[in-house]
Amino acid sequence: MDQTTSTPEAEVEQANVSPKTYDRFGPDTVGEEVVLDVKELRTYFTTRWGTVKAVDGVSYRVHRGETLGIVGESGSGKSVQALSVMRLVPSPPGHIVGGEVRLAITEDGKTTVKDVLQVSESEMTKIRGGEIAMILQDPMTALNPVFTIENQVGEAITIHQGLKGKPLWEKIIEALRHVRIPAAEQRAKDYPHQLSGGMRQRVVGAIGISSTPSVIIADEPTTSLDVTIQAAYLRLLKQLQAEDGVSIIFITHDFGIVAKMCDRVAVMYAGRIVESGDVRQIFNSPRHPYTQALIESVPKLEVKTGRLRQIDGQPPLLYNLPPGCPFAPRCPNVQERCREEYPHSEQAGENHHFHCWNPVTQQ
Ligand SMILES: Nc1ncnc2c1ncn2[C@@H]1O[C@H](COP(=O)(O)OP(=O)(O)O)[C@@H](O)[C@H]1O
Ligand code: SF4
Ligand SMILES: [Mg+2]
Repeated sequence: MDQTTSTPEAEVEQANVSPKTYDRFGPDTVGEEVVLDVKELRTYFTTRWGTVKAVDGVSYRVHRGETLGIVGESGSGKSVQALSVMRLVPSPPGHIVGGEVRLAITEDGKTTVKDVLQVSESEMTKIRGGEIAMILQDPMTALNPVFTIENQVGEAITIHQGLKGKPLWEKIIEALRHVRIPAAEQRAKDYPHQLSGGMRQRVVGAIGISSTPSVIIADEPTTSLDVTIQAAYLRLLKQLQAEDGVSIIFITHDFGIVAKMCDRVAVMYAGRIVESGDVRQIFNSPRHPYTQALIESVPKLEVKTGRLRQIDGQPPLLYNLPPGCPFAPRCPNVQERCREEYPHSEQAGENHHFHCWNPVTQQ
């Protein structure tokens, strides 16, 4: 694969990651319960300031039919890890310098496991949108203003299912109805600007799911939408999941949305997963000070007065990172050791892992 070969081996050698960052949770069998197994993924950008380690040893598993939340502040590497899984990282300047992305692909009732970082570009085109679909953040940039909805939904269906004529039209209408677009036959003839924001978001969703993927990556799908559209969109995603059994990777900066939407969560900071596990367990009893700060910044209905906690300081720049824990300059629990050595993985419960030398005391 060109993205790995073009990057100096030395970059991987330098990677400042403890050997125990691969947190194992859930069953081991990729293909049955596990549909996607990402292991030690590393994506670096070569810039004039140095090597930006946007994703630096990220590992997670996605089970069939579950929603995994990936949460973290802006710039923590959430989108770059998703683009890496899709092999859509702009190169140059980006390079996937290491890792595995094993995907269970079921065809004619038979399941095979493939490392998507190793398959040919033509096979990847089939996988992208066929097996894994990414629903982009902003419906206006995801849709082309000069083509009708019929053209855009139809293009995705033609690529993956090779349909034409009447069967294609029927499939387009079915896809639009599936995402609850009223008067689908009329809307299909519209251009994006003729639809409301909520309807455009649904069209992007329809394109994403038209090929019945096994994994949908929804990257901050709600940020450009107003609150009522957001709620409707989140409900729709969950309904589709209940109907189709699709797994969802839900990327957001908002722990409140994670708590509503997700079964499990992985918290990202400076290109790494710092805590992962069942949402309820982590929400009630976070061990990493950064996770705790993210949770404390979520508004709570029952608390009417008082200010939300802000996380002091800025996320670190992801080049020339000092050794040790990158959260140290902002951390209330920091100790001497934190600045010297990256924390190993600790287990707090069956599915609960975190990387911290001086964790939040369990309540
Ligand atoms: N094309 C690029 N060139 C250089 N750096 C990039 C590029 N794209 C992303 N990055 C860097 O990768 C890091 C992670 O970005 P991103 O994954 O978009 O963050 P998030 O989605 O969590 O907000 C950021 O520090 C960003 O500056
Ligand atoms: S390792 Fe140290 S600096 Fe990092 S989060 Fe834990 S206590 Fe804070
Ligand atoms: Mg992003």
